[in-house]
Amino acid sequence: MANLSDEKIPNNVNLASDKKLQRALESWQPSFLSWWQDVGPEGFQADDVYLRTAISVEPDGWAHFDYVKMPDYRWGIFLAPPEQGRTIGFGDAMGQPAWQEVPGELRNMLRRIIVTQGDTEPASVEQQRMLGKTAPSLYDMRNLFQVNVEEGRHLWAMVYILHNYFGRDGREEAEGLLERRSGDSDKPRILGAFNQPIENWLDFYMFTMFTDRDGKYQLAALQESGFDPLSRTCKFMLTEEAHHMFVGETGVDRIVARSAELMKTDPNGDARAQGALDLATIQKYINLWFTLSLDLFGGEISSNAADFFASGIKGRYKEQDRHTDHKALEGVYAIELLKDGKIVKEEVALRTAMNEVLRDCYVEDCQRAVDKWNRTIVKQGVTGVTLRLPSRRFHRHIGIYAGQWFDPDGNPLSQAEYDAKKHQWIPGPADATFVQGLMHAVTERGKIAQWIAPPSKGINGQPFDFEYVRHQA
Ligand SMILES: [Fe+2]
Ligand SMILES: [Fe+2]
Repeated sequence: MANLSDEKIPNNVNLASDKKLQRALESWQPSFLSWWQDVGPEGFQADDVYLRTAISVEPDGWAHFDYVKMPDYRWGIFLAPPEQGRTIGFGDAMGQPAWQEVPGELRNMLRRIIVTQGDTEPASVEQQRMLGKTAPSLYDMRNLFQVNVEEGRHLWAMVYILHNYFGRDGREEAEGLLERRSGDSDKPRILGAFNQPIENWLDFYMFTMFTDRDGKYQLAALQESGFDPLSRTCKFMLTEEAHHMFVGETGVDRIVARSAELMKTDPNGDARAQGALDLATIQKYINLWFTLSLDLFGGEISSNAADFFASGIKGRYKEQDRHTDHKALEGVYAIELLKDGKIVKEEVALRTAMNEVLRDCYVEDCQRAVDKWNRTIVKQGVTGVTLRLPSRRFHRHIGIYAGQWFDPDGNPLSQAEYDAKKHQWIPGPADATFVQGLMHAVTERGKIAQWIAPPSKGINGQPFDFEYVRHQA
């Protein structure tokens, strides 16, 4: 059995002197490694990959770059440094000292939240496992693997919390995190978007743009948590998550840049004829992944969300900077509902609308990225075409719009109208086949697939033509 040392598992939780934690992790780690071998990136486990590893939480320690074989990656356990005298910043327990142990009455709720968040981390690795084989460049392949190993580390971070603070049921939940499988009908991952296939690199960039960004807002809301170890864990995870969203946002931007560029070159303005993606197809993938990710925030009107806020478990995005009333007992929030075929606004108590409040911040952030992509189109000299976010009522499976049908502008439709048109709006089998047809591995240094522009710079100051992955034939 592996000997768990600080060297093998970089950490700032005193692992070396904590025998109980060592024992718990020692039994979990072999399961983790076999999970990684079974359903982690397929085909590249023996390769040297230029990866970032967190070896401490200090500014110079959280981003250490070197060649690593993925199974040897040092998945560490880091919590952001403690804040002396931290108090709970919102809800009914506001002003009380933050909890260093799990309060008995909140145990089930907290465990559910941690398991649900933790479940997304291995799920995304499973979803992305085949993509290495069609990477458009070594730079992109390396970014994929970076995201994968860090999602593995985030799993470790959540498992640490379960092992250290939830006793026996925590250990059982930690096992469960390695037993569910993305897309498996018998034992699926907990949340919808994490059971969706990620079949091609357009899916991957959309996922890291939109779905990892849901993660950012969930982690930010949990960073506010009164349960201090969870708060500190999420805070540190957010530093890594930024890179995942960068991969997604710039990935889509590079695809858009290339499409617009080739629209200019082609006599008929047809990027497809030039071996790239057309903007209409890109729009369909935006519509799909944006709306799948909207669902991850949960129902618009939610008594669970109200309980999480009231009890001090989950706050709002930047609770201290963006809000003055941290109790949120008085406020109301206007929700748009479909009533008798018309959209009407109805006020609900603010606390019950906390999912929607968080979703608002997310939508605003996504809109910022779409605006940027549109500037990229204009910069390439193409005018009159813009990308956009669909209405948040479109294509929803959770909350008040689930089971209703809307077009991307948010206008109500009959199910028959929706079904007849849906593949104009979200990818259908023909789109998947077309996108798949563009996906061929480009593994020569400095080369890149036709359908995507190279990045403006490489990783960690290295050039684009750096050998980011050394393939062992
Ligand atoms: Fe993550
Ligand atoms: Fe992520």
